[in-house]
Amino acid sequence: MHIHKFEKIWLTFGIGCLIVFLSIVGVSAFYLGNQPPSCLTTIDPETVGEKAPFDKPGLNKVEGKEWDYELVYVASAFSYNPTQVEVPLGAKVKVIATTKDVVHGFEMAGTNINMMLEPGYVSEVVTTFDKAGEYLIVCNEYCGTGHHLMHSMVKVVE
Ligand code: CUA
Repeated sequence: MHIHKFEKIWLTFGIGCLIVFLSIVGVSAFYLGNQPPSCLTTIDPETVGEKAPFDKPGLNKVEGKEWDYELVYVASAFSYNPTQVEVPLGAKVKVIATTKDVVHGFEMAGTNINMMLEPGYVSEVVTTFDKAGEYLIVCNEYCGTGHHLMHSMVKVVE
């Protein structure tokens, strides 16, 4: 069978491009490992409840840090601990969260907080609550039959 010279060139070019692109996608997707981008801290998901700060879920006042409070969450199928918390208006808060079991989401409606909680990793974000009101936290990663029941509430009060 005769293949035209140009056809051969374009075929080679096309397959070459495909290999290059797939290699780039394949390598870059796993280059840094499969972990949440904001997470530098790891934890053993089996013993989460025994280790600080996860032995004290909820709002804890801290001294000598750039933030005034640490708001600690432990997620598990299908709830967050704590389920509700009050935060004083204007407080600078570091939200620290992890999961005991599977991947969960952590989206706080009305704010730009949206984290993925992966077993073995600690997700953190620092924020200032400068508007009073109720902020609903929902799970936005499908985690099983009770996924839609998974929520918590932050009340920012004066
Ligand atoms: Cu937890 Cu969906």
